[in-house]
Amino acid sequence: MINIAKPLIGSEEKQAVLDVLDSGILAQGPRVKAFEEAFAAMCSVKHAIATSSGTTALHTALLANGIGPGDEVITPSFTFIASANSVLFVGASPVFVDIDPRTFNLDPQLITAAITDKTRAIMPVHLYGLSCDMDPILDIASKYGLLVIEDACQSHGATYHGRKVGSMGTGTFSLYPTKNMTSGEGGMITTNDDAIAEHCRVIRQHGMRRRYYHDELGYNFRMTDIQAAIGFEQLKKLERFNQVRRENARYLSEHLKGVTVPLVPEGYGHVFHQYTIRVTGGRRDALIQHLAARDVGSMVYYPVPIHQQTFYVNQLGYNLSLLETELAASEVVSLPVHPGLSAADLETIVNAVNEFAF
Ligand SMILES: Cc1ncc(COP(=O)(O)O)c(C=O)c1O
Repeated sequence: MINIAKPLIGSEEKQAVLDVLDSGILAQGPRVKAFEEAFAAMCSVKHAIATSSGTTALHTALLANGIGPGDEVITPSFTFIASANSVLFVGASPVFVDIDPRTFNLDPQLITAAITDKTRAIMPVHLYGLSCDMDPILDIASKYGLLVIEDACQSHGATYHGRKVGSMGTGTFSLYPTKNMTSGEGGMITTNDDAIAEHCRVIRQHGMRRRYYHDELGYNFRMTDIQAAIGFEQLKKLERFNQVRRENARYLSEHLKGVTVPLVPEGYGHVFHQYTIRVTGGRRDALIQHLAARDVGSMVYYPVPIHQQTFYVNQLGYNLSLLETELAASEVVSLPVHPGLSAADLETIVNAVNEFAF
């Protein structure tokens, strides 16, 4: 079976974990600090704050930006549930805006109409490894005095006209094993703002600025040194991993027939967390079955948009339609693109798709 995702863990990560175990400092220690500094450098930002997951990175970033009850955050519905749930965690409401069908990302042209007097922030999600169109988003944010929190959980190292994702607002990353780099579980917040960075560190550690003095409600969102040691080694490999993902994606796009392949807009550095095609005419699920029969893994990210999830409809009363989001959810399927694929794997994937009768 050619898996849709595969973490590549080498001897460097294994040795680094053993070194931590021998060191006697297992959590929030020197490896976490070193990993944060290296991650901040990768993103070209002043600060990186490690957390226990991408979800807790989002939660912490929203809290540190002062977003809370009564506030609205504009975000896409075509994303992983954690993007919107993190807004709920702080007592605010996600306001969903439709996507640009060519990129699967938030359509900047639709944002202004969604702004109300309760809107506090825009949370673009750089889906599948492709940056959102950030210039118009940053312009709208500055015109209306809104904060920008980037959900970059799927786009480590991606660029937008030379700028790294995570450097254009408060950035948040996931280090889950399927991501372009991993620490097992883990997350990272990136920012150039000293006060936001400091506040994130306090929230991560029980609201504590001085040991056992608690100024505000905080959490245990810490990363272990074991995770940081893995992440530190993975970060050294990120550029190479991303380069192989790009090469694999180029091969697939050059050879696949009968499907819409991913767009890479001019000036964007796509890191292909996912290689996502569109299959029209209601044939997507048949293609998935066909691929499975040929031992080619695939996955739909995401079959149900957040505004149509049971919890959002039944408990929160969401009742809206987002045409492009809903169409994408019925047409997308992601194919393996990870750096563990061989040339033979890529050929197998292409042949399996191309022999399907669209
Ligand atoms: C877009 C997006 N946001 C948030 C998250 C949450 O990250 P984690 O699973 O590390 O909590 C993910 C992870 O899959 C994601 O893809």
